Amino acid sequence: MSVGERLPGDPDLYFDAHLFVCCNRRPDGHPRGSCAAKSSEKLRDYMKARAKEMGLQHLRVNSAGCLDRCELGPCLVIYPEGVWYKIETTADVDAVLEQHVRDGGRASNLMLP
Ligand code: FES
Repeated sequence: MSVGERLPGDPDLYFDAHLFVCCNRRPDGHPRGSCAAKSSEKLRDYMKARAKEMGLQHLRVNSAGCLDRCELGPCLVIYPEGVWYKIETTADVDAVLEQHVRDGGRASNLMLP
């Protein structure tokens, strides 16, 4: 048994995909920067609207505080897979929604290690 492993008797997943978009903002000039300073809030809003427009069901897009990968952001993580992406443009958001969430694959060129 290990953390993240689902066990017999666990309830069904409440969402098929749960997307956490870092919307942490630090003061200008902070050495680590922040995702909100790189437009993550706008990208989160676009992602919510686009997911709805695409008719994706059983999905939740949430704002997250700092996910501690600030230098690599704007970043998001999708559970239950635990796959991380860097999203810089609305085209990146489209790629994640289409290739990962809708098609069940990966937007490989945007994945964080
Ligand atoms: S500010 Fe986004 S991961 Fe830290």
